[in-house]
Amino acid sequence: MPKIHKRVAVITGADRGIGFEVCRQLGKLGYQAVLTAPDPAKGKEAAKKLLREGIEAAYHALDVANERHVRKLREFVLKKFGRVDVLVNNAGVMFDAGRSKPEGRVGRWIKTLPKKMDFGEGQGILEVGIDIVRASVEVNTLGALRMCQAFIPLMIKARYGRVVNVSSSLGQLNGMTDEDRVPAYQLSKAALNAVTLMAADDCRDKNVTVNSVCPGWTRTSLGGPRAPQSVGEAAENIVWMANYPDGGPTGEFFRDKKAIEW
Ligand SMILES: NC(=O)c1ccc[n+]([C@@H]2O[C@H](COP(=O)([O-])OP(=O)(O)OC[C@H]3O[C@@H](n4cnc5c(N)ncnc54)[C@H](OP(=O)(O)O)[C@@H]3O)[C@@H](O)[C@H]2O)c1
Repeated sequence: MPKIHKRVAVITGADRGIGFEVCRQLGKLGYQAVLTAPDPAKGKEAAKKLLREGIEAAYHALDVANERHVRKLREFVLKKFGRVDVLVNNAGVMFDAGRSKPEGRVGRWIKTLPKKMDFGEGQGILEVGIDIVRASVEVNTLGALRMCQAFIPLMIKARYGRVVNVSSSLGQLNGMTDEDRVPAYQLSKAALNAVTLMAADDCRDKNVTVNSVCPGWTRTSLGGPRAPQSVGEAAENIVWMANYPDGGPTGEFFRDKKAIEW
């Protein structure tokens, strides 16, 4: 039985950037936001900021590369709220060219490598360090998969769920030969899209939808200052899909609220 009547939305990587804004927008729509992030100090501060705006946001620690964290988060959500309606797999890294810093479990693993990781500015798929690819997949692909495995069964049981995998058009298979050379990121997002398709298939006819959304090129630490779009605009694309009425699309990839090719 649900312990609260509000819909509950779990958002990963939500202490800053697009994820934080998704929490704010879902909160304004009346959702109880579960704001998750790896760093408790930054995460608690972010949740407090939303609470001051009158938005119901509860912080819980989550490094998506850490299975124990995922299990603990699931226990927390079930005990405190008794339900989960929306999952936004937003946590993401672009290790290529050092665009994101390796932290948490992945960061600790990288420190143990015998050779210093070469972040490789402009390297293509034939040069990129396998460790960069492994670390990117660990967060961007397996992080989202762990969350899907933990939370989608609860949604299926409740016969309601909206899962948004925050992907990127850089992961489109028909865009792999474009100029952008961030191969580890591209590969991890293409694999995330594969997770979307397979999970959507396993949820068919259960009122649980699973879609990939590219938020668009956005001014954040990952997107950089030259990006044309604000976090507000980026989050709107994700929230649109997270709040979609029954009977909506599943197993699709969207950008600017329009379906795009894989
Ligand atoms: N910005 C763009 O132009 C753009 C375009 C297309 C797609 N996207 C996608 O949008 C999503 C959000 O990106 P953003 O631009 O908002 O990036 P961002 O500002 O760099 O924020 C990334 C977020 O992910 C969190 N994170 C990193 N590693 C994590 C881990 N192991 N476990 C849990 N959380 C982790 C970070 O936490 P910390 O604060 O602790 O580091 C931070 O909250 C990503 O999936 C990204 O690939 C972004």
